[in-house]
Amino acid sequence: MVSRLFSGAEHAALYSHFRPSPPKELVSRIISYVKEKIRPPLSHALDVGCGSGQSTRVLTPYFEKVTGIDTSVAQIDEAVKKEKSNKSEYKVAYAENVPLRNESVQLVSASQCAHWLNLDVFFKEVHRLLVPGGVVALYGYLFTEPVVQGKQEAVHSLLWDWLYREQLSQGYWAPQRVLLDNCFRDIILPFSDTVRVEDIILKRRDLFSNYLGYIITWSGFRELQKQKPELAPQILQEFESRLLHILQLSGSQVSYYESTLLSSQVSYYESTLLSSQVSYYESTLPGSQVSYHESTLLGSHLATSTRSISRASLCD
Ligand SMILES: C[S@@+](CC[C@H](N)C(=O)[O-])C[C@H]1O[C@@H](n2cnc3c(N)ncnc32)[C@H](O)[C@@H]1O
Repeated sequence: MVSRLFSGAEHAALYSHFRPSPPKELVSRIISYVKEKIRPPLSHALDVGCGSGQSTRVLTPYFEKVTGIDTSVAQIDEAVKKEKSNKSEYKVAYAENVPLRNESVQLVSASQCAHWLNLDVFFKEVHRLLVPGGVVALYGYLFTEPVVQGKQEAVHSLLWDWLYREQLSQGYWAPQRVLLDNCFRDIILPFSDTVRVEDIILKRRDLFSNYLGYIITWSGFRELQKQKPELAPQILQEFESRLLHILQLSGSQVSYYESTLLSSQVSYYESTLLSSQVSYYESTLPGSQVSYHESTLLGSHLATSTRSISRASLCD
């Protein structure tokens, strides 16, 4: 099963397939907040670091126009492929240098990407782009974690201690990943009117193999694949075995269920499928009501995030 996941697929396509979309509750909280600050109609939203478009598409029901930008051509191609709405446009561009007019958007969103940005420059850009009263929403999620009754501690430890901290600790993660691990609490928003949300959880049911596909999209895992291509499948295989062991399943059970027809997959969902749980955290702020302050606290992150900008395929 693991080797199948490696075969020939591009990262952007994997990303598009396996990553979660922002939950409705989160989107509706952001939109409510925008509506508190700005009178409809909502004309234009910008989603920076849009990846394959999952965080952009969720905005189209609320805005007349939505622009998604990303430094990665492959991600933008994937986003365009997936897009069904004629209200969206996608561009290859940096969040720190957006090809849009001053005061032209009511919302700037950054999903699962604030840690990659040169935040001082980005916040200046946000300030330039937002209409008076406009809102910037920075949000992200921690690792999606299989929910297994009575075995949560074992699953959590496998994911965080064994895979993340032990197997992927050798320089495979960019240093700014720490910002995400700490739920962006260390990002000092240079605006005074801010709201922090930490109580949104996305629960979903998915195939076991899709969970492994999600692991492959981790930037740390991608880096392992680049540096030690022979080791990456071994680690994934070992992770799969350990997870199956916790779930008390054999690999053949999983393959069997995954290759059966949809009706059987339903029972598979009930009996063996992983429900994943993602905690979302979010900070929003109206960009215009407050004066802009240079953030000195973020200075130490700038060198590393500037370096990351040139690496187009970076994801969390
Ligand atoms: C983890 S992905 C997030 C994708 C999507 N927003 C989501 O919610 O899944 C981070 C994305 O940020 C992009 N990125 C990194 N640095 C960037 C920058 N300086 N400007 C714009 N995009 C950037 C990467 O190419 C990548 O597609």
